[in-house]
Amino acid sequence: MLKLEGSMRTHHCGELRESDIGKTVTLCGWMNKYRNLGSLHFIDLRDKYGVTQLGFEKFSGDINLLRTFSLESALIATGVVTARPDSAQNKNMDTGMVEVQVTSIRALAIAEEVPFLPHGMVGATEDLRLKYRYLDLRSKKLQDILALRSKATRAARSALYDLDFVEVETPILYKTTPEGARDYIVPSRVHPGKVYALPQSPQTLKQLLMIANTDKYFQICRCFRDEDLRADRQPEFTQIDIEVSFPTLEYMKNLATHMVKRIFNMPENFAMKSISYDEVMRDYGSDKPDVRFALKHMNVTSLFAGSGFATFADVAAAQGLVKAIFIPTSMGTLARKDIDGLVEIVKPYGGKGVAWFKVEAGAVSGGISKFITPEILSGLINLSVEKGDGLWLFCADKNEFVTHDCADALRRHFGKTLNLINQDEYAFLWVYDFPLFDYDKETNTLAAKHHPFTRPKDEDVELFFSDDKAKIGQAKAYAYDIVCNGYEIGGGSMRIFDNKQQSQMFKLLGFTPEEAQAQFGFFVEALKYGTPPHAGMAFGLDRVIMLLAKTDSIRDVIAFPKTASATDLMAQSPSAPAKAQTDELGFGWLKKD
Ligand code: AMO
Repeated sequence: MLKLEGSMRTHHCGELRESDIGKTVTLCGWMNKYRNLGSLHFIDLRDKYGVTQLGFEKFSGDINLLRTFSLESALIATGVVTARPDSAQNKNMDTGMVEVQVTSIRALAIAEEVPFLPHGMVGATEDLRLKYRYLDLRSKKLQDILALRSKATRAARSALYDLDFVEVETPILYKTTPEGARDYIVPSRVHPGKVYALPQSPQTLKQLLMIANTDKYFQICRCFRDEDLRADRQPEFTQIDIEVSFPTLEYMKNLATHMVKRIFNMPENFAMKSISYDEVMRDYGSDKPDVRFALKHMNVTSLFAGSGFATFADVAAAQGLVKAIFIPTSMGTLARKDIDGLVEIVKPYGGKGVAWFKVEAGAVSGGISKFITPEILSGLINLSVEKGDGLWLFCADKNEFVTHDCADALRRHFGKTLNLINQDEYAFLWVYDFPLFDYDKETNTLAAKHHPFTRPKDEDVELFFSDDKAKIGQAKAYAYDIVCNGYEIGGGSMRIFDNKQQSQMFKLLGFTPEEAQAQFGFFVEALKYGTPPHAGMAFGLDRVIMLLAKTDSIRDVIAFPKTASATDLMAQSPSAPAKAQTDELGFGWLKKD
């Protein structure tokens, strides 16, 4: 590491070793601990890099000075590195073989009593830690994550520079960029009554850069989305945003593989497993499954069609979906109360229950066993990879997506509770051939599955220009996701590069020609002037770091995160604007009661 002259300190607090014994050093840091043993005094001085023990046997100043230092005060100390006596050596600590015998020490800044100590020995609620985020950030855990984030960002940048990508900045004060969430809007002082929208992603801008001959673009950019927050979502988050001209799908997968390999430090022969959307839904009921463990779903609808079990027979008759999961005894067994508790797992997804029966020594018992004819049982066994004794579980609903969601929730539950997951593994998937739309039967409307710039597959273009929305809802897109351990870490698509296709897309999504013109007229016009075929993707950097840091809270990987209700507890934002601001902007402030 490069070192510059002029620092207040000669070493950091994680640096000194036995080879430094005899050196005179100056350290700076925070008072982590003070021990007064009467004749002996020790201070543990902590900084970002570690902890060094300070001793005071050679100290000729007033020892009472140490008592004036409070925990978390910033100190500077000079002294000589000495070997610790055998009995005081600490092999678990990097600096545990030495201590610094202090000759001079002073406080740089005395700390008032802190609301909690950052080394995490005493519990503090998350709200308190977020309010004093700068204190929480003093902890090794969070500093290590920030460093990890910086390193991963650098790896992503260099992976792209190595392929000759150009980093381009795009505006933050912009116009709606539909990604399926609400926009954050910013009123304009110069144009009263008008607003900018913060980009949900630089989607249209990066496509315009392709029209503009940039060829290979990337940006590590902030995106803003006003949407319901979850454990892996923040209202502002960071993407590694990428777009290229003249690619093939194969190129896009190779690019995603290259990025994953470099960011996750995967071996040279790393390859990403490909699976189509239809297959992933069939096998896992989710488009972002955790494939570190098996426990695949089975579609057993036809086995129960016309069967004695009316609930499932009705679902089959209504073109619904019945799915089964088989847990062989060798994988784990469930007590009766655990089986009865499974309904709670599926309820949040609209599930009404989980049907089950057991196979013991080849014989069926319990639950719905009286409906399990030898034909149904042999049908089930044929479908299952695992055979023999075990527990069969079933989810069924007339709405196939309810069945998928419930069976997915069960699978994830067993992954955890049966300890099927290897926590050290990263299991990546390239999920392709997504539907172009989500079709809503009730309202006969289409919504973009990825976003409105995604291209229909060539074989579905004719359908795309037809009128039957229900049928158009079946069209597939050149859209793909990158999935890891149950998280969607990235997504992208080949883009529409024909202005007529783009206009048809807006029409299908319910925009009137006037609305489409007002919001995206400039973009559709740009497509007229010789647009190269282009495609792109964006990785969610925060989620990537969550995986690298092995944490399941997105707040851990963001320096100054927001809570689940999109507030910053430290800065107390959002906050009411000053009257002068609203006056200047020319809008009144409505009070919600
Ligand atoms: P998409 O909306 O799929 O695609 O976003 C890309 C990736 O960004 C991450 N992500 C989020 N991370 C944290 N908080 C959020 N609220 C959040 N929303 C999304 C996910 C996701 O896979 N413009 C397209 C990309 C493209 O087509 O090139 C886009 O934004 O990891």
